[in-house]
Amino acid sequence: MASVWKPAMPTALLLGTFILYGTPEQPGTLEPAGLYLTWTEDPTSTIVIDWHVLADSPLEALDYRRRGAFRWRNTAAIETFPSPFTEGRTIHRAHLSGLRSGTVYEFRFGTESRIYSFRTMPETADEPIRIAFGGDVMVDRRMMESMNREVMRYDPDLIVWGGDLAYADGREDKAWRWVEYFTTIRNTLVTADGRVVPILSAIGNHEVRGGYHWAISGYTQTDASRAAAAPYYYTFFAMPGQPGYGVLDFGDYMTIILLDTDHTNPIAGAQTEWLERTLAAREHFTHIFPVYHIPAWPSVRPFEGSSSTALRLRWVPLFERYGVRMAFENHDHSYKRTVPLRGNAEVVDGIVYIGDGAWGVPPREVKPVESTWYLERSESMRNAVIVTIHGDLLGFVAIDPAGKTIDEMPLSPPVAKLMEDQAATEPRPSR
Ligand SMILES: [Fe+2]
Repeated sequence: MASVWKPAMPTALLLGTFILYGTPEQPGTLEPAGLYLTWTEDPTSTIVIDWHVLADSPLEALDYRRRGAFRWRNTAAIETFPSPFTEGRTIHRAHLSGLRSGTVYEFRFGTESRIYSFRTMPETADEPIRIAFGGDVMVDRRMMESMNREVMRYDPDLIVWGGDLAYADGREDKAWRWVEYFTTIRNTLVTADGRVVPILSAIGNHEVRGGYHWAISGYTQTDASRAAAAPYYYTFFAMPGQPGYGVLDFGDYMTIILLDTDHTNPIAGAQTEWLERTLAAREHFTHIFPVYHIPAWPSVRPFEGSSSTALRLRWVPLFERYGVRMAFENHDHSYKRTVPLRGNAEVVDGIVYIGDGAWGVPPREVKPVESTWYLERSESMRNAVIVTIHGDLLGFVAIDPAGKTIDEMPLSPPVAKLMEDQAATEPRPSR
């Protein structure tokens, strides 16, 4: 007689198990039209997920779970708004909070969606943290793609772009450029196993109708005026949001300050006052990274340019007063690194300004280092700068779009600290 199969668990309990957990799920394969992760608050415990969908897409919900957890959690609070000047395209935005630091979370947009993941930032820099910096991102989509792919080989924790993103100039007839931009991000800034790299984006002239606040018809320093002049920037990016500049603190080891160099806010006035308060409150941070579009120390354009001059007058003295070691500049479409600068002179413990914005644009001819006192390096070359911080150590490697190293600095302690240590160990003069 054939034996009758009996469940090891009583039937009622077995049924209960399926009701509680459901049947094993098949992962879906659908991807949203656009996918962009960022932070507006504590990167160790939150994330902002933006996904773009076309009409009739089933990718309406957001579920997430800690990797290794069985049950998905559903996010009820999703903001939905239209993508500017792009018929049929809708942006969904969810803010997740209460997450564990340094932890991988999975997320999906309903059961038909591919499963993606992100990593919250750690509370300390006890392990190395890697950030890719650059700007002037997509004059040409293929150029952006090639640089994205090389940067992803470094497995960055985040990417920070300093303006001139999709080159749509705030114009209705160039909405297609943003469609290409977000498609490129989705296709290249997701790892093979689905990890999406978060991005911070500062504003540049090519986000703005007219490029600069003085060229904006009827400009006033208001949210309405800024949003009308840069409709895509203020819609697509939760961070910094209004008024167009902002700060993000990572534990108490790193702070990233996104600034607006005369595009929808004047450099002088309210923004400079905010910058002083922001820096004064963060003197205890080891790594303070200002990121902005127009260079104070240009490698291509005139030194006397009005915005560059205003930056050296208003912001550079604040960077010097409050302990900035490295600032990230863009706009000139080249590679540059300055000598260490303080008080308008080269000093050993000065600030290094690095850039100059050539992620996905043809490079321009640069000023020669030999005749430009503040430049240590200048190259007519596309680049991304991949910074590593580890405790109070800071290093970087600058790469070209083929992945070749064009400049580097090994992990080093702050020069000011080295000088202090050296002074402390030098023998005192005998009496
Ligand atoms: Fe620019």
